[in-house]
Amino acid sequence: MKLLVLGGTRFLGRHVVDAALGRGDQVTLFTRGQAPNHWGDAVKALIGNRDPTVAPGLAALADGRWDAVIDTCGYVPRVVRASARLLEPRVGRYLFVSSISVFTDASCPGLDESAPVGALADPASEEVGKHYGPLKAACEVAVSEIYGTRALNIRPGLIVGPHDPTDRFGYWVARFVHPHLLGARGGTAVVPAPPSRPIQLIDARDLATFMLDLIASGASGTYNATSSARQWSFADLVAALVAAGGTNAPRLAWVDEATLVEHKVTPWAGLPLWIPSSFAEAAGFMEIDCTKAQRDGLRTRVLAATIADTAAWLAQRANANTWNDVLTSETEFAILAAAPERPPQQRPKSSERAR
Ligand SMILES: NC(=O)c1ccc[n+]([C@@H]2O[C@H](COP(=O)([O-])OP(=O)(O)OC[C@H]3O[C@@H](n4cnc5c(N)ncnc54)[C@H](OP(=O)(O)O)[C@@H]3O)[C@@H](O)[C@H]2O)c1
Repeated sequence: MKLLVLGGTRFLGRHVVDAALGRGDQVTLFTRGQAPNHWGDAVKALIGNRDPTVAPGLAALADGRWDAVIDTCGYVPRVVRASARLLEPRVGRYLFVSSISVFTDASCPGLDESAPVGALADPASEEVGKHYGPLKAACEVAVSEIYGTRALNIRPGLIVGPHDPTDRFGYWVARFVHPHLLGARGGTAVVPAPPSRPIQLIDARDLATFMLDLIASGASGTYNATSSARQWSFADLVAALVAAGGTNAPRLAWVDEATLVEHKVTPWAGLPLWIPSSFAEAAGFMEIDCTKAQRDGLRTRVLAATIADTAAWLAQRANANTWNDVLTSETEFAILAAAPERPPQQRPKSSERAR
């Protein structure tokens, strides 16, 4: 296939390009040229700005035909509409990377692709930090309006794996496999009780493979794309982290929600992946219905594989100025002092399923 990737050089897009080249696809990148081209002459690299109001805009995309566009870096409907419209006569399909953040009400588990999505109070708003979900939803609408049955809108959950700039999953890998990367940490790690709390995530490489497979099969429409609801719990994640950490792995202190809240641990950021019950409006984000994606080919590798590869990447990355939002070692020590270590919880046997 001939593919045009709008973006492609940071995290998810980088894995898309790796996977596409691995399958023998021809890849063109369109970026501002700020992040490096990791593939040299193996890709065609076009430079511009996807915002048509910022010179040189989309001029580099004036010519060329592709089987599909993969848009990994669209956040604002005006901007997404510009590339979608410009390319429509010359491309087969347009795949837009959206997010499960589109949902209006994520308080309940089991949201499927038909669940209501957020609307912008002010349709002209472009404040991505404030209206990320509704803006993504509006981008989906723009792509669907222009491409009809040639549109694919993919809604990932938490994307993890090597090159993840958000360092959320990376915190857990560092805490258990490379604790020195987090500064002076003790031999016991705070983990949020209960161990049965469900988690959902998707390895960027599995997501990339799924997206390319959908394009190749001529699929269209909208897909939630993360691991199956209740496939994994925090206990499964922690068991895989302990196994990966080996002799480096800290002992576990499963700490109840009240203690974490009392120590002002920020949901999701302070302890990544932790959504406490006090954050009820987001409870469903870890139990999204991905039946459609699983049916149409989404497969998830085992947690151990994602952890091992993320650990290998962290070991060679420059880790200065990272993990600024996670709980500090001082807070971790204070929590441990307030919540004395309990005997280790029962570890899951083999509940980590490969799909
Ligand atoms: N992380 C998660 O857990 C998560 C969850 C759900 C959905 N998502 C979505 O997944 C996607 C992940 O993105 P990624 O950063 O990993 O993608 P990526 O394609 O690997 O990196 C972003 C690319 O966009 C390019 N870019 C940025 N601004 C540009 C502009 N104005 N014009 C042209 N190119 C531009 C960057 O290169 P230059 O800087 O050189 O321009 C870079 O190549 C996002 O759409 C995000 O909303 C993420």
